[in-house]
Amino acid sequence: MPLITSKEMFKKAYEGKYAIGAFNVNNMEIIQGIVDAAKEEQAPLILQVSAGARKYANATYLRKMVDAAVIDSNLPICLHLDHGDTFELCKDCIDNGFTSVMIDGSHHPFEKNIELAKKVADYAHERGVVVEAELGRLAGIEDAVNVSAEDASYTRPEEVEEFVTKTGVDSLAIAIGTSHGAYKFKPGQKPQLKFDILEEVERRLPNFPIVLHGASSVPQQFVKIINENGGKMPDAIGIPEEMLRQAASMAVCKINIDSDLRLACTAAIRKHFNEHPEHFDPRQYLGDARANIKEIVRHKLVNVLGCNGKAAEIIAAVEKNA
Ligand code: G3H
Ligand code: 13P
Ligand code: ZN
Repeated sequence: MPLITSKEMFKKAYEGKYAIGAFNVNNMEIIQGIVDAAKEEQAPLILQVSAGARKYANATYLRKMVDAAVIDSNLPICLHLDHGDTFELCKDCIDNGFTSVMIDGSHHPFEKNIELAKKVADYAHERGVVVEAELGRLAGIEDAVNVSAEDASYTRPEEVEEFVTKTGVDSLAIAIGTSHGAYKFKPGQKPQLKFDILEEVERRLPNFPIVLHGASSVPQQFVKIINENGGKMPDAIGIPEEMLRQAASMAVCKINIDSDLRLACTAAIRKHFNEHPEHFDPRQYLGDARANIKEIVRHKLVNVLGCNGKAAEIIAAVEKNA
């Protein structure tokens, strides 16, 4: 099956109280690790590309590797632009085969965010592409821009109906206490998410798919391996998995995960070099990285997102509506 939008994925995920994993891709090993796990678990996938990923890997290479993933896996896969910050970037992705884009105007004033999101949604919808936008602002690191805790702000539920109605976007990312990167809470701070905000958003936007960014769990086994093998990541901490499971059972249909894949990759490579100082063939250590990414993705699909085994129902829904 060709690349699909997230429309049917979100419908099924909402009804079935699970979430689709949106994994960031930057190179071949990351793509293969994710897709191999999804193949074994027969899970739908959102593969997402940031502006930084395009700059690093070249937009054409990434696009073609995602095409390869579709051919190789036969899974329902959506190709999504993560954190598009301009109309031009979104347009470029839409014109080049992405099936979903995020226009992230969350740093703009409300009216400007609406104006930008509507412009992207109008352009995208004419071409069969879906759009995610964001209200509220997450803390953490995005494409080398560090949003401080002071600049971060929770989503205001009283704004969501007006925003969605005026823009026509297909899904909405909200800020309820998650953040980008590997340091999501201060040492000693109890991890907490504002489920009351999510509940209120759900009440105001029934059946509307909500997106959670900054949703890595920062597995402590990887942090330990990194620190025991020459790394220095003290106090790296993520979102507890049970909170993500709770979000997935509510209106959250898309859960964004990038940092956990970076940690899986780095832990495997650091360990490999420590254990095999004589190795210099990238296939040896990148092979370990790919295998570790596969295992963490498989864990997420089964134990956090609950989307394992859901590929078939999404394919059936897409084919029925074709
Ligand atoms: O939200 C940010 C994602 O983790 C992408 O990160 O902009 O460094 O590629 P990046
Ligand atoms: P993490 O840094 O928690 O993996 O978040 C990724 C993300 O939100 C990508 O848009
Ligand atoms: Zn994000």
